[in-house]
Amino acid sequence: MKDGKEHRICDETRSELLPILQKIQDKKGYISDKDMQQVADKLGIHPVEVYSVITFYSFLNCQKEGQHTIRVSSCISSVMKGSKKIVKEFEKALGIRVGETTGDKKITLKETSCIGMCDMAPAIMVDSKLVGKVTAQKVKEIVKELKI
Ligand code: FES
Repeated sequence: MKDGKEHRICDETRSELLPILQKIQDKKGYISDKDMQQVADKLGIHPVEVYSVITFYSFLNCQKEGQHTIRVSSCISSVMKGSKKIVKEFEKALGIRVGETTGDKKITLKETSCIGMCDMAPAIMVDSKLVGKVTAQKVKEIVKELKI
């Protein structure tokens, strides 16, 4: 069993993890397998811990995304207000499935959890911009704007 000091060191190490990952993401757009291994080595933790943090946070990526990322909220309010239909509209307009990137590497389509827009459901994020009360027409306009 670990003493209090070891636990404190461990917690401090883990608190460093998210900012490091965010920094890599900001610089490269994603966190590669090699990055995960290097971060794990630096912090003295298992690479699986690094991977589990990346996959927990939908704003961290372990694969390179398109130039733009569309995130459709899949929170219960958005689902009740038609987010699944919005996902299908984006899939149709982009010619890809959720989780994929267009062939020209311009747009990635993802689902995400809470984006703090329940009152504006169905809500999405286009890169860092929040868009609420999304309709099929709005989907077409957004895709057209991003493809220009
Ligand atoms: S729970 Fe709906 S956006 Fe947060």
